[in-house]
Amino acid sequence: MVTRRNVVIGTGAAAVTAGAAYHMLTRAGPAYRDAVLETWSAISPSQAGEFNYLVHYATLAANSHNTQPWLFSQAGETVIIRPDMKRATPAADPDNHHLYASLGCAAENLSLAAMAAGRSTSVAFNPDGNGSVEVNLAAGNTGRDELFDAIVERQCTRSEYDGRQVGQDDIRQLEKAAGMQGCRLIIIPDRDRIEQLLALAITANTVQVNDAKFAEELKHWLRFNGSQAAETRDGLYSACTGNPSLPPFLGRIMFDLLFSADSENDKLAKQVRSSSGLAVFVTEKDDKAHWVQSGRCYQRFALQATALGIRHAFVNQLVDVPAVRAEFAQLLGIAGKRADLVVRYGYAPAMPRSLRRPVDEVIV
Ligand SMILES: Cc1cc2nc3c(=O)[nH]c(=O)nc-3n(C[C@H](O)[C@H](O)[C@H](O)COP(=O)(O)O)c2cc1C
Repeated sequence: MVTRRNVVIGTGAAAVTAGAAYHMLTRAGPAYRDAVLETWSAISPSQAGEFNYLVHYATLAANSHNTQPWLFSQAGETVIIRPDMKRATPAADPDNHHLYASLGCAAENLSLAAMAAGRSTSVAFNPDGNGSVEVNLAAGNTGRDELFDAIVERQCTRSEYDGRQVGQDDIRQLEKAAGMQGCRLIIIPDRDRIEQLLALAITANTVQVNDAKFAEELKHWLRFNGSQAAETRDGLYSACTGNPSLPPFLGRIMFDLLFSADSENDKLAKQVRSSSGLAVFVTEKDDKAHWVQSGRCYQRFALQATALGIRHAFVNQLVDVPAVRAEFAQLLGIAGKRADLVVRYGYAPAMPRSLRRPVDEVIV
């Protein structure tokens, strides 16, 4: 990945100072700023209509590579979330595990938004066809809770953290929020165990970064500056990972030059070591219904963390690379099972926001 310190500003730019050039390259631009405000706005059902309101909050969920692989429809009192297979990432996610987990994240947000609007909900996986998640809405007198309020604040914060430890009371709250049938949360605060898992994560990261298909797919989903991010309103905007904004053609060149196992592993080690701990989500079975469940469980953890001022980001290399999965499971004491998702947590300032496509583009 392009890193700030590695960016070379060409000597051809002699007429501008390096500072001015840097400013020019990193400006997010008004289109990006407007899109952030629109994406992360708090809205009400009376403003938008109930269905659009629900879909708005659902789309603010975490999702793999920010491909937003979902399509929403309504049948009576049920909202149906189907996978959008055109937005799958076969190199990073060959069995679509993360795609279905992303649908679970969206379903959880949708459910919280429905409850904030006074509905009660039940969420079920329908295995027909490619499978879909169905959120049934009923009358109820449930209400708004702090997880709902955290939806517009949550982000994956992919920076180095400040090393502070999360206290036991907060850990208990995270465990409570993420507690969900069929999904188990394993918290790892111990430094020796974290080092052990980091060594394995570095092995896995090396495999991923050296995989040409993985790198090509990642590059396809990178958005190298604010204008490009605002144009597509999907993908991974470089500033969200602390990288400079560049014209897309230059960004692609820099990516080819600088994306290497050494630089990525160095960054990964600093990020993990600066975090307070790791959280691993493990479901009972390795099937689509449980992949969805892992996404719901993660999303609740992430929202509770946000409400408590705790940051998080994924360290999924440990579950993404089949060659290390078994060893990871063994180290966790769950040999024979597949861990679903891994995040690090701790404290850090906010990073720039990711974007989402407007609801019209995902309603069918
Ligand atoms: C199932 C799943 C897998 C993910 N895997 C990774 C990952 O391996 N590395 C990473 O940095 N982010 C990962 N993410 C985070 C997404 O890239 C992120 O949610 C998306 O870019 C939108 O950004 P936001 O969550 O800050 O809004 C994952 C998210 C989900 C739901």
